[in-house]
Amino acid sequence: MVTGAASGIGAALVAELASRGMAVVVADIDEAGAQRVAEELRSHGARAIGVGVDVSDPESVAALAVASYAEFGSVELLCNNAGVLLFGAVADSSIGDWRWLSSVNVEGTLNCLHAFLPAMRRASGWRHVMNTSSAHAFLPDTSHTALYSATKHAILGLSFGLRAELTPDGIGVTTLCPGQVATRILDSQRSRPEVFGQHAAEPFGTGVIPLAIEPDEVARAAVDGIARQDELVFALPDFGLDQFRSQVEQMGQMADDALAVHAARLPQGEESAGSVN
Ligand SMILES: NC(=O)c1ccc[n+]([C@@H]2O[C@H](COP(=O)([O-])OP(=O)(O)OC[C@H]3O[C@@H](n4cnc5c(N)ncnc54)[C@H](O)[C@@H]3O)[C@@H](O)[C@H]2O)c1
Repeated sequence: MVTGAASGIGAALVAELASRGMAVVVADIDEAGAQRVAEELRSHGARAIGVGVDVSDPESVAALAVASYAEFGSVELLCNNAGVLLFGAVADSSIGDWRWLSSVNVEGTLNCLHAFLPAMRRASGWRHVMNTSSAHAFLPDTSHTALYSATKHAILGLSFGLRAELTPDGIGVTTLCPGQVATRILDSQRSRPEVFGQHAAEPFGTGVIPLAIEPDEVARAAVDGIARQDELVFALPDFGLDQFRSQVEQMGQMADDALAVHAARLPQGEESAGSVN
């Protein structure tokens, strides 16, 4: 079951999974798009259904779980992939911007976990959860994407904790962190409900991210990582790899520097390896 599967990375994920023999639930707030993707997969011999869902709505997600189990009887792989992006400085953002981003990116993931995990935990055999975060969860400078990055940091924290919690049940958890991918993510506000207020300005237009990798490349990396039970999967454009690596190192350096300052504050002999909160 893949959310956000009418477009971009989600659509590529269901195609990749179907090509490897899985039956797929194509779930998206764009119900017509989800039906189109499912129809296309069926025309190539796959087992697929399209389902309309708003992941931010627990009742809608509960109905998705009912439809998934009614059609296929079990769910082995839950891909919490639906997500939206908004650019803008924190000070210029509205609380509605934040609520929309977090209701889809964070609460959407939680709603799906709550709806699908009970039955997945009762089942046996191979089972796995994949949550789509972002390379943004590893960037030290997230200016103009701070709200989005905050939601993707949340997914990283949620996924790491979830992996530890689900290990005793034999359920694997993978966090997918794509970089720039050629999808419709810049036009995320096409599905923004009115209740979250006016659409924010889009400083980079609503086209496709330039100099980006293709969604099917991300999907292949993701499914290979799931098969290996990887904790973390990066899918990034080659040209940005060195810059990304140095940004990740900056994050490590920041922590090292802060730990050195912390250690210098402690009275001699008190530096111990206790629990850190
Ligand atoms: N494209 C990138 O460069 C990039 C980079 C890092 C992470 N990501 C993440 O990848 C995931 C997929 O995004 P994408 O790039 O394929 O974008 P996309 O816009 O092409 O696809 C996102 C899909 O999510 C659906 N969606 C939006 N709100 C929803 C809701 N409330 N309920 C159900 N479905 C909803 C949209 O209708 C759309 O089909 C997102 O979580 C995004 O944050 C994308």
